[in-house]
Amino acid sequence: MDYTKIDFDHELDRGPNTYNQTLGQWWLSQSSDRAHSYAYSKITQHLVSFFGQPPERIIDYACGAGHMLTRLYRCFSNSKLTGIDGSSLLLKLAGKRLQSTGQDWRQRVHLIETNLPDCSLPRGQADVLLFVFPNIVPDPDLPDSEEEKDSHHPEDRAVADYLALTREPNPEEETVEDDPETLCDSLITDNLISRNLRRLLKKGGVCVRADYANAPRNELTKLVEQRLAFQEGSLQEPVNGLRAEQLFKVVGSTYYRSKVLEDVYHQTRDKTDKDGGYLLTTLVAL
Ligand SMILES: C[S@@+](CC[C@H](N)C(=O)[O-])C[C@H]1O[C@@H](n2cnc3c(N)ncnc32)[C@H](O)[C@@H]1O
Repeated sequence: MDYTKIDFDHELDRGPNTYNQTLGQWWLSQSSDRAHSYAYSKITQHLVSFFGQPPERIIDYACGAGHMLTRLYRCFSNSKLTGIDGSSLLLKLAGKRLQSTGQDWRQRVHLIETNLPDCSLPRGQADVLLFVFPNIVPDPDLPDSEEEKDSHHPEDRAVADYLALTREPNPEEETVEDDPETLCDSLITDNLISRNLRRLLKKGGVCVRADYANAPRNELTKLVEQRLAFQEGSLQEPVNGLRAEQLFKVVGSTYYRSKVLEDVYHQTRDKTDKDGGYLLTTLVAL
């Protein structure tokens, strides 16, 4: 698919349904290339080596066309799997991919079509949650009350404001071009999604995220590290005397160079988004 013909800003403004149409087709072509296949295999290897005992219940949050679900189905032959996504197009293909295992996959896999974040999903049942190459498109029709149900800790908004208003002391290191209001909204939206991830997990459950990145975690500036930690709900220390609610603790982080970052380049057309890969982060639910 020729990505240069896609107006990503326009598509993303249309809400998650774009993954049933233009972005769904784009994602099908992206996710089936060699870089993505290799990354899905790396993530699977990580999960297999991390868990001594096969986890009982695994959720793939925004599972797309089921690339990870199918691998997990093969590797964890006794686990119950749930794939959640807003795209009927991609979920149908996830079903077809699972069908290709030649087994009665419906005995162990449940596919749920819903717009995320969704606070009505069963709480605290998953042992493991995957969130791989997230590109959650906010639902423009989501009623405010839906967000309110999962409302923030009182100081979260103030922490997000501070992290959005602050700029790198060395302007050459500043990676953000958005105005503070846009940046604050995106920090809050990502934190809200992490809150939804935490809600689905049991206490002590494990969340494995593969996030697009340009550098390993230990090479991030203090400010970028704090913004990332706020987004994923793992911020431990107070910021400017304010404390965000900590939902997760980071227990491992590995950086892989990979061409998967071109997913981001297609959207931003910023050449720096061609150089990097993804961060595979393991977090424990507090
Ligand atoms: C970049 S794809 C990643 C898919 C999958 N995790 C993978 O790595 O193959 C992003 C996925 O998020 C889903 N998505 C985006 N916004 C959503 C929303 N608001 N609600 C539910 N699903 C959404 C899309 O349908 C798509 O499957």
